Amino acid sequence: MIIDPKTFERFNAVLTGVIVPRPIAFVSTLSPAGEVNLAPYSFFNAISYQNVVFSSSRNVGNKSKDTLRNIEETGEFVINIVVDSIAEAMNETAAEFPEGEDEFGIVGLTHAQSQIVKPPRVAESPVNIECKLDQIIKIGDGAHEHGLVIGTILLMHVRDDIIDGHRIDQAKLMATGRMAGNMYCRTNDRYEMVRPVYDPEKGVAVKS
Ligand SMILES: Cc1cc2nc3c(=O)[nH]c(=O)nc-3n(C[C@H](O)[C@H](O)[C@H](O)COP(=O)(O)O)c2cc1C
Repeated sequence: MIIDPKTFERFNAVLTGVIVPRPIAFVSTLSPAGEVNLAPYSFFNAISYQNVVFSSSRNVGNKSKDTLRNIEETGEFVINIVVDSIAEAMNETAAEFPEGEDEFGIVGLTHAQSQIVKPPRVAESPVNIECKLDQIIKIGDGAHEHGLVIGTILLMHVRDDIIDGHRIDQAKLMATGRMAGNMYCRTNDRYEMVRPVYDPEKGVAVKS
């Protein structure tokens, strides 16, 4: 089957069904008036060792998305990593709460003070990444408009028990992955694959 994204009905379901699993940025922001906002974004990744990116649609229905607007206006945000223990709370925050409602309180999560930026961290998340805005790239038009938010990492908070030297204990982190639609996955089925290096004398790639 060959799919043309311009004509295939509900192409979004196909796309998000094949690019899986996607990590979830649980983004906390502040409005210029100081109202706290928290929402999940799974068009998310690290794009360099100093930068993260996520993408938000401009609007949902006839309302603009608070996260994108807050970052445009304040230039700051925190990415909280979604793990098994807070996955349900994360999902609840995706409901379209009225502007100015603090989703932390609604879903039972706790503010933890950030050190550099103003938006609070999610205390229940084992990893919080304090970011300042690098740039927002506008993608698409009209109902398809998105903002691609590129952030510079200022500070990362990692819960002590999940880190040993520079190694994150994945069994303790238990990051949540987003599959298509309402489906998620756990990161408890992992395996090792050693990367080969090319040996020019033998003319083959070898694993050391
Ligand atoms: C797991 C999950 C991932 C999501 N990822 C995105 C995303 O990548 N981009 C987006 O625009 N909306 C995404 N949403 C929807 C937003 O979270 C939702 O529209 C939310 O209400 C926006 O809140 P805000 O207006 O406070 O920013 C996602 C929802 C869920 C549950």
